[in-house]
Amino acid sequence: QRAPPPARSDEHQPPPFHRLHPPPGLYERLLTWLWSSHSSSIVTLDTNEADIPADPARPTDANGTFSRPPPEAPPYIRRTANNRLIITVAEPVIHEGRTVGIIQLTRAASQVDRALFAIRSSILSLFLMVLVITVLLSWYLSLTIARPLLRLAASAQIMRESSGRTGTVPARLLARRDEIGDLARALQASAQALWKRMDAIERFAADVSHEIKNPLSSIRSAIETLLRIEDLNQKRRLLTIINDDVLRLDRLITDISDASRLDAEMSRAQTEAISVVPLLSVLAEIHQATRKEGEPIILTHSEGDSPEHPLRVLAVEDRLVQVLRNLIGNAISFSPPNGRILLEAVPVGNMVALSVSDEGPGIPQAKLDSIFDRFYSERPKEEHFGQHSGLGLSISRQIVDALHGTISVENRHDAQGHVAGARFTVRLPRVMA
Ligand SMILES: Nc1ncnc2c1ncn2[C@@H]1O[C@H](COP(=O)(O)OP(=O)(O)O)[C@@H](O)[C@H]1O
Ligand SMILES: [Mg+2]
Repeated sequence: QRAPPPARSDEHQPPPFHRLHPPPGLYERLLTWLWSSHSSSIVTLDTNEADIPADPARPTDANGTFSRPPPEAPPYIRRTANNRLIITVAEPVIHEGRTVGIIQLTRAASQVDRALFAIRSSILSLFLMVLVITVLLSWYLSLTIARPLLRLAASAQIMRESSGRTGTVPARLLARRDEIGDLARALQASAQALWKRMDAIERFAADVSHEIKNPLSSIRSAIETLLRIEDLNQKRRLLTIINDDVLRLDRLITDISDASRLDAEMSRAQTEAISVVPLLSVLAEIHQATRKEGEPIILTHSEGDSPEHPLRVLAVEDRLVQVLRNLIGNAISFSPPNGRILLEAVPVGNMVALSVSDEGPGIPQAKLDSIFDRFYSERPKEEHFGQHSGLGLSISRQIVDALHGTISVENRHDAQGHVAGARFTVRLPRVMA
């Protein structure tokens, strides 16, 4: 009989694992993996034997399908049905070259069990520790990052939805010294910049409607009177007033549309290095070429300019010309007959000062600040009505600000200390060679 009877085979062969124990869980598999990776030279088996004593004859049974541990075999470890570990060490006894027997030692490995338990519990405690740390860390992160960010998002939302100034960034977030504080401050700053811009637009609209209303109401009352009166001379006078007001409106609207486009234009325009001395010469020459009898003369003067190292500023040429034209235009209109206007370019540190001086009446001390305001215009009575919108200096200041420069005004004085005219100075960043 080659094949052993099935009953006998069943008796000796350990039944399959799943018939003894429920299928192993993740934890069991993890431990098995840990165990086998540590001692690959140890054989473990699961059996349904009783704990101790293990039948010492069984592993040596010739008909058994347990393969006998070969000489120098590693310790033999079994797990019983009670989940106890049994260690067996077998050594062949060799006499005169022949194996005469085997010495087999079997122990219940309670120490191994204890060690295993210790390992398991340490892994478990490690796992719990990591879990606690993870929970604490995510709680901390949500407290310090996620919640402040949500609060910032909420204030941004309120700012977007409400038209007023509600929804400012909480002060606690602004005071923070970390990245969230930076973000909060940036959000606050951009909101404030937007509000400032909105205010400026609102003020501009209010100023514009106010300025337009004046000539309009003047036209309306002139027309009303015109309808009532018969006198031809009076009618002609009223028509002249209407004509002036229409001119003024035209001028106003042209200037207003220029001014309102200016911001967008300045943000698009590219600054470049501009040689200022040739620019001033061209402006003076143009005036001299078209000058009529009695009109002022324009002279130029410069310092620190040479062909090798021309005096240059960082600006947008068209806009710089616009500023200079405004200043020159004012100077011409305030100059006495045949007065002199001086255009100067002088380096001052890392800036270049461009100035326009005239021999006019100068500016009253109290008005030195307000002349740059929008629609501020104070002209002699006899001056042709409708020429001046009062936007020239305000536009000039807007341009110079955008070019990172400054514009200022002072009165010139003669030897006796009397006001001898006005001097407007524009300072712009200098471009070194
Ligand atoms: N060179 C100057 N001399 C005296 N006053 C001046 C001079 N330039 C400007 N001003 C005063 O500043 C005001 C504002 O000037 P500006 O903004 O150019 O408006 P506008 O020229 O339309 O009146 C003028 O109305 C005038 O009163
Ligand atoms: Mg002007």
